[in-house]
Amino acid sequence: MRVFAAILAAGRGERFGTDKTEALLGGRPVWRWSVDTYRAHPEVDRLIFVTAEPKVAAMRELLGPDVTVVAGGSTRQQSSRSALEAAHEADILLIHDAARPFVSSELISRTIAAIVRGGAAAAGLKVTDTIKEHTADGLKTLDRSRLVAMQTPQGSRVELLLEAHASAIGDYTDEMALVEAIGVHPTVVEGDPNNFKITTPEDLDRAKALVGSPETRVGIGYDIHPFSADPARKLFLGGVHFPDHPALDGHSDADVLLHAATDALLGAAGLGDIGEHFPNTDPRWKGEPSTTFLRHAGRLLAAGGWTVVNIDVTVIAETPKVMQRAVQIRTVISDALEIELSRISIKATTNERLGSIGRSEGIAAFATAAIRR
Ligand code: CTP
Ligand code: MG
Repeated sequence: MRVFAAILAAGRGERFGTDKTEALLGGRPVWRWSVDTYRAHPEVDRLIFVTAEPKVAAMRELLGPDVTVVAGGSTRQQSSRSALEAAHEADILLIHDAARPFVSSELISRTIAAIVRGGAAAAGLKVTDTIKEHTADGLKTLDRSRLVAMQTPQGSRVELLLEAHASAIGDYTDEMALVEAIGVHPTVVEGDPNNFKITTPEDLDRAKALVGSPETRVGIGYDIHPFSADPARKLFLGGVHFPDHPALDGHSDADVLLHAATDALLGAAGLGDIGEHFPNTDPRWKGEPSTTFLRHAGRLLAAGGWTVVNIDVTVIAETPKVMQRAVQIRTVISDALEIELSRISIKATTNERLGSIGRSEGIAAFATAAIRR
């Protein structure tokens, strides 16, 4: 079963006043919350991000090749159709409102399980308020026990959504209304009161109150590698190749800079160290570019709800001149972690010819990282 999930963020946010999905919540745009949760979900094979046409290129750049970014339409239904068109390879498609930042991993799992069993499912909440309807004869009280307030995720087998979109007449505000129109009875799975939709500025205040003040942690990383006698090895520092310079010895590419940065991140989140995640006795990591380790650490942090505040690295080396390539190194780290360049700092110093590093026997690096959630 291939499960794709689409985050819809192509709305205009008219009731909010501006593009609410870009509003900052705990230091992250609203859309980022659900994107991170779905990306870290083990049962979701691919993410589709639906955004307004003018933002497609920038979002592609920001989200990288793991996420399919497509342009939405002028109604929610058209945006959900764009997602469906990008999901032919999927067996199941989940649709989620970017305006619902607090979707939980458990709710996603429950919805997928119900789709596998019954073909279509959506999160919904029992209505607790008394709901009345204006009619020609005045107010009529509805039977609350028969009502359910729909949330997202909503989803179904892809062939059902294809059929529902093909035969849809008129505009539907959710995917379940679409599949109901072709006679499918979706399962309603128990939603979550915290999975509310940000519709008005008051909803954003409520979301901010839930997030509270973020928890910040710091971590430290250190690594040192000796120079290698092997002429076939290449020197990599911060994922950048330094040609015409002796290489460092090690099981992987021996990139001390990225190893220190990765350890600082893992340390901040209390996730052990690089050696536990990538043992140097494992042949899989022989000669592995260290960007793999950094990216992995970034994903582990995202799965735990952490975002990176900043990383600061000092490289200690008599040669090469690391600072000449600092922007390139910062770009490598920023791409691997999907964070802004301004959050990454690289510094370098010689050891003033003192000790082993001073004698040019190797290169060391220290890093600190701060993370927040
Ligand atoms: N959405 C979308 N494409 C549209 C309309 C809505 O992708 N043409 C998305 C929104 O970005 C949002 C979700 O669908 O994440 C739920 O829609 P809603 O809360 O109605 O958002 P907006 O349409 O942006 O807000 P408003 O109706 O107040 O303009
Ligand atoms: Mg709308």
